[in-house]
Amino acid sequence: MLSTSASVKLKKKSQNNENIVNKHSKIPKQKSSSNGNTSKQVKSTNGSSAEKKYQVPPEIIEQKKMLPVYTAREALLKNFRENSSVIIISETGTGKTTQIPQYLYEDGYTQGGMTIAVTQPRRVAAVSIAKRVSQEMGVELGEKVGYTVRFDDKSSQLTRLKYLTDGMLVREAMIDPMLSKYSVIMLDEAHERTLNTDVLFGLLKSVQNKRKNLVKSNPNGKHKELKIIVMSATLDAELFSKYFNNAPVLYIEGRQFPVQIFYTEEVQKDYVDAALVTVLQIHLNTNKEDRSDEEQHGGDILVFLTGRDEIENLEKLLLERIVRFPSGVKKLLVCPIFSALPQEQQMKVFEKAPAGCRKVILATNIAETSLTINGIRHVVDTGVVKSKIYHSTIGIDSLSVIPISKASAKQRSGRAGREYDGKCYRLYTEDIFNRLEESSIAEIKRSNIANVILQLKTIGIDDVLSFDFLERPPIQTVKKSLELLYCLEALDDKGKLTEVGKKMSMFPLDPMYSKTLIKSVEFECLEEVLIIISMLSVESIFFIPKDKAKEVENIKNIFFSPEGDHITLLNVFREYQKVNGSPQWCYDHFINIKSMVKILNIFEQLVKYCMQSKMEMVSCQSDYERIRKCFITGFFLNVAVLQPDKKYKTMADNKEIQIHPSSFLFNVNPQYILFNELTITSKAFARNILPIEPMWLPEVCPKYYGRSPTVQDKSAQQSIKETTEAFKSN
Ligand code: CDP
Ligand code: MG
Repeated sequence: MLSTSASVKLKKKSQNNENIVNKHSKIPKQKSSSNGNTSKQVKSTNGSSAEKKYQVPPEIIEQKKMLPVYTAREALLKNFRENSSVIIISETGTGKTTQIPQYLYEDGYTQGGMTIAVTQPRRVAAVSIAKRVSQEMGVELGEKVGYTVRFDDKSSQLTRLKYLTDGMLVREAMIDPMLSKYSVIMLDEAHERTLNTDVLFGLLKSVQNKRKNLVKSNPNGKHKELKIIVMSATLDAELFSKYFNNAPVLYIEGRQFPVQIFYTEEVQKDYVDAALVTVLQIHLNTNKEDRSDEEQHGGDILVFLTGRDEIENLEKLLLERIVRFPSGVKKLLVCPIFSALPQEQQMKVFEKAPAGCRKVILATNIAETSLTINGIRHVVDTGVVKSKIYHSTIGIDSLSVIPISKASAKQRSGRAGREYDGKCYRLYTEDIFNRLEESSIAEIKRSNIANVILQLKTIGIDDVLSFDFLERPPIQTVKKSLELLYCLEALDDKGKLTEVGKKMSMFPLDPMYSKTLIKSVEFECLEEVLIIISMLSVESIFFIPKDKAKEVENIKNIFFSPEGDHITLLNVFREYQKVNGSPQWCYDHFINIKSMVKILNIFEQLVKYCMQSKMEMVSCQSDYERIRKCFITGFFLNVAVLQPDKKYKTMADNKEIQIHPSSFLFNVNPQYILFNELTITSKAFARNILPIEPMWLPEVCPKYYGRSPTVQDKSAQQSIKETTEAFKSN
């Protein structure tokens, strides 16, 4: 029999339904005139003989008709025709993201070669949904239906339905400020209130006005009006509606079955362990006694965790238990999903489990609303999420594990009741639930906005104050972000974009990275910095087979450089190049070949950007000191000093941090370190470490380390003060 290291006592909550259907102005159900046969309609609107076409499987056509949004098709289209902005509210799984763009396509919104854009906060969602929609329309992905995410573009001239991350649309606006190829832009998952979606609200509202005026003055000109559709899974529509001049709010009633909520009786110290125990309890209990469940395919389990480390940890623990299952117990198939996971593996969560087998999906917040996974009947909610937090005193962001909001908890439990009755196991007490915030704080209120300011200035919105934010960022954030951009030399002392700033905005990278990249020409190490930044943008380079941890450590040591993680990564890349990307070499060295292919692709794209900016491809060979100095130009805020207890204190604000065990310098402990990333879980961990020398700081970054660690330049201070004060009084 199975033994568990701890037991999670769960009590049933009396209220058993958390259905969030709004009963007020929901769209009346009516018969749709669409026959759901997309391929037929596609030809009549926008046929092209060069495009590949596939037969749409009849089950997909059936599935489309079964979605709650199907009956609302005509009412939606009528509203779109009559209004320039529309807000749509409905629960996850209604069919908003996959269906509504197709309805618009069928209704002629792409005539004249126009495109419909659908933004997503997460790349995994943009990619997987575009794939699904291309199947539903029977077309080749990248042709009529495509996607664009950072460093991965599957769209073409033929693309009429384009799924893209919100960040990529902001970048497109930097190149084409009128976004003239789009007839409709749908801001999906608006409730997530990501920084980029918030920026898009302001940008699109202004573009819509400008295009309206252009059409008025020249009805036959090249510009067409822009339709904006905001889609959200929560009911706080008022804010969106008011912002878009009282745009109509349409509620589509979803299908939600009752979900029983359970809370733990006691606070759980280790939620990963609690999740393990709960998953095993669910599996073994429903396996034995709840035979009627079987008819409704047993019900898969969805576990919400905060990130890759936790997911892999729980996967390992589960696999250890699964092999010890007594005979007769149904198989349990573990499917992780997080953004750094290779795409093929991500797609596995959507596949039906083989007969006699149950899936347990270990997911980050991505499964909360962005992805709809069929077959879930049990949700295990750890009650936490990894979120970007801005430390406005020092001006840096960290990834921290924080409690979710009540709205998130409701979304998570809702995932259990999409097709059948479900159960949600909250691994926290009811008292803790009652004390959660009502809804999550918008990213603009809790993260650094240096990138936003840089992008707005590039688009020509020089005065950040005049920007029509849906909700304003805190004054301290604006101040610190302006200071950061000044110290990065992206803004001059009048707050104007400098040449360096203009160059920085060309790269699809955070300002600290783009500054490092631009400066690397002066430090004569552009080639190396390009490689390192490409390596840093992929999470998993080494794969660690469960029983070979020691061997992997030995292999990793081959590449080790005492000059820092960045140099170690560079060594891996150099060796990979030497063997021409040999799969055998990758296998022998526990290197994830797919990650390396991705890195090579990112590297090549970044090289193209550098060529466009006419940067000279220089190499420092093995003079790595240049690289270490160069990274200070971008990451001067991320510096820490060793303490007698082997911990570190940040130079900027004396906060205690530690080197993450994944760093090659974990036990080396150099005196001064620079780090690229700060993750705060139970402790504050710095990742990707470079040892540096303290005397390099004033030499490389005089604006910050010149006299004392604040902005000392009088005129710059004055300019930042004026901007922030005007902002306050505005
Ligand atoms: O946007 P919303 O949450 O309203 O729903 P959706 O993402 O359009 O998903 C509607 C349906 O499409 C889901 O219930 C799934 O059945 C299906 N779907 C899928 O099978 N595979 C995907 N990658 C995405 C959606
Ligand atoms: Mg959706």
